[in-house]
Amino acid sequence: MTQEIDKTKLIHITNDRYRPAYHIATNGGWLNDPNGLCFYKGYYHVFYQYHPYSAEWGPMHWGHVRSKDLIHWEQLPVALVPGDPEDSGGCFSGSAIVKDDRLYLIYTGHHYYGDGDLDHFWENQNVAYSDDGIHFTKYEGNPVISAPDDNAQDFRDPKVWQHDGKYYLVLGSREKKTNHGRILLYQSTDLLHWEQVGTMFDTKTVKNTGKMLECPDFFHLNGQDVLLCSPMGLESTGKNFMNLSQVCYSIGQLDYANCQFNGSDLQELDKGHNFYATQTFETPDKRRVMIAWTSPFNEEMPEKADGWAGILTIPRELSIVDGHLYNKPVREMKKLRAHPDLDGELTIDGTTKLEMSDPQHSEFNFAFPEATDGQLSWQLNDSQGALLSITYRDGEVVLNRRGQDGKRYASVPAGIMNLRIFVDTSSVEVFINNGWVSFTDRYYADGPVSYQLTSDHQISLMAENYALK
Ligand code: FRU
Repeated sequence: MTQEIDKTKLIHITNDRYRPAYHIATNGGWLNDPNGLCFYKGYYHVFYQYHPYSAEWGPMHWGHVRSKDLIHWEQLPVALVPGDPEDSGGCFSGSAIVKDDRLYLIYTGHHYYGDGDLDHFWENQNVAYSDDGIHFTKYEGNPVISAPDDNAQDFRDPKVWQHDGKYYLVLGSREKKTNHGRILLYQSTDLLHWEQVGTMFDTKTVKNTGKMLECPDFFHLNGQDVLLCSPMGLESTGKNFMNLSQVCYSIGQLDYANCQFNGSDLQELDKGHNFYATQTFETPDKRRVMIAWTSPFNEEMPEKADGWAGILTIPRELSIVDGHLYNKPVREMKKLRAHPDLDGELTIDGTTKLEMSDPQHSEFNFAFPEATDGQLSWQLNDSQGALLSITYRDGEVVLNRRGQDGKRYASVPAGIMNLRIFVDTSSVEVFINNGWVSFTDRYYADGPVSYQLTSDHQISLMAENYALK
């Protein structure tokens, strides 16, 4: 049995005021996690958690876009529609892998017990496949993993990879009794039959204890292994872990023989207000590329009134240098540059306006002289004044967004060397020191936006600003 979209119920967009120009978003309806990132038959594919019938989270489908260049995305028909016995309550997050020229999706089937309590559910894992990268068939032997091995409440978000001729997947889980988050490791030879081979990571063994680790990811990068996950319920420690949930990473080593991952304490990957549920994949030229959901957590999303909700981040390339995970925009982003608005040396003493020809679709690049001390600020204004700013002072960067709980922090002990910012109508992505740290935020401007740079001392810097198409 395979479900179909009810086209008569689709929600449509009524207003473009917050629509991004170059980020992945729906053509109507709700979006959350990126899923199934892969390269297949000449296209990059991104799927996403999708509710096509309203701008609210609902029974999850898999929306689908593809691209030849990682920056221009084409909407394709919905890939997975829930409602079959294996995914009665939703097709939750999962991943993709190519085997024998066939594209496999491995995803979580979400099921409610039917007592009206949305927190009363169980989960299993399923496969769907495609030979054209557009039309998907759910595997007739689903589910491929029917239940967790023990007393787990949550059991979802499979991320699959291949190693030494075998397939592995990690699943996020939570022990019902102890409330600890765990990442379970499974192994297979054919993607269809899986056995659990261990608990790869358990929050009992690390300092910061999340109660459920959503969207786990695992990959080998620059000679080391990396575990990424989105823990729920990490406690805030001053200026760290300030969001309701965040994306964390640990760098270490997976011992395949005993299925244990030994790694560093969980570090926060992005310091902005809106960053969650990352997924990565390897491009044909061997780059590790990551996309996240620019998650609202408990914030309002004014675009809901316009018939849609949610965007994904731009694709970012990961690398490890000196034990630190960098994330920076993929190099393809340069192809979005329409023309330069500023290119050359800029001297600031006080406040300088940055004139942008297409203010809501802009890229800013600033390179600072070596010994930058004192205060420096980039600011986005709307008709009410300052809406969002990035300020560097004494080894710390502060993002300040107008409204409640506006500040987020990152320490930049090496000082600030460069700052790169992408603005796209209702999102800002900030990269400091070539991606040593990033901030991802949604913003909703009241009227046209303008920009300024402010410094409390005279400083000359190199600026390269572009209008993006
Ligand atoms: C993360 C998440 C996943 C789940 C999906 C459901 O945002 O909660 O754990 O699979 O969203 O939409």
